[in-house]
Amino acid sequence: MSRNLLGIRHLEPEQIEHLLAMAKDFKKRVNLGKPVPSLGGHVLGMLFFENSTRTRVSFEQAASYLNLRTANFAAQASSMAKGETLKDTVLTLRFERLDGLVMRHKESGAPTLAARYFGGPVVNAGDGQHEHPTQALADALTILERKGTLEGLVVAIVGDVDHSRVARSNAWLLSKMGAEVRFVGPKTLMPSHTGMLPGQVFHDLASGIADADVVMCLRLQKERMDGGIIGSIAEYSKLYQINKDTVKWAKRDCLVMHPGPLNRGIELDDTAADSELSAISAQVENGIFVRMAALAWVFEGVTPARRVEQAAKPKDKAKK
Ligand code: NCD
Repeated sequence: MSRNLLGIRHLEPEQIEHLLAMAKDFKKRVNLGKPVPSLGGHVLGMLFFENSTRTRVSFEQAASYLNLRTANFAAQASSMAKGETLKDTVLTLRFERLDGLVMRHKESGAPTLAARYFGGPVVNAGDGQHEHPTQALADALTILERKGTLEGLVVAIVGDVDHSRVARSNAWLLSKMGAEVRFVGPKTLMPSHTGMLPGQVFHDLASGIADADVVMCLRLQKERMDGGIIGSIAEYSKLYQINKDTVKWAKRDCLVMHPGPLNRGIELDDTAADSELSAISAQVENGIFVRMAALAWVFEGVTPARRVEQAAKPKDKAKK
């Protein structure tokens, strides 16, 4: 059975460490122009049912460094627009002999369903409000590079926690690695099940980010809001925006992070996004290397479908 990467929640700390070590090694090799293992022969289906810039491009870059071919799938242009179910779509892709899938979907759990029917490695590139494992790995690698450790750090995740799969994957990862996680934001942007998440809730920005080593800002996900959740954008920014004044409440050398896309002027302003404290561009770059690690990890020991087919034929004949 092949591996999947569907979330962080069920990974062991050793598996997280292993993935981060692989990513670090890939980064070193790529930057020095040294060879990386080739996954040549595998074809990776790229199923993005939701918009994406950095996740999609970095998976493409990761695949190309690993010599994987990608097959693109545009949900709007596919037979799903004619009513085909996700299950039938995934089964179709399986019999089209794709070897692995990278999948983003607006429904939490869609990649898990895909993994059940696909029969090969599936990597979750963000599902609904559930998980975004490779983003959490990119963020962890970035923090490790800047701070040397995750253990004992105070990480404040600020903003629209309720709609954020990034917040959830980060909270699982960071808490498993020994960091203290805080969720900071108005009550209406906190999940109703915060008790089940590994972090403490703060509704006041000053106390929530006090002495934080990392301030992770989240985008207000207006497309997932039913309206009326926040008074107004202006009021939200006044209370929760990270800028040159509010960032002073955190540690002097804190990292300012954001998974992107940024709503500049809302959850953070230019003085925070472009300051020396900002690690936002490092997060983007590290996305490539953690996605290389994720792909290499899920493809470990997997034989490309077309080769399996070819190899199976003579054996079948021999049996008869
Ligand atoms: C996030 C996502 O899609 O979950 N972006 C990302 O992948 N880097 C966050 C967001 O959309 O706000």
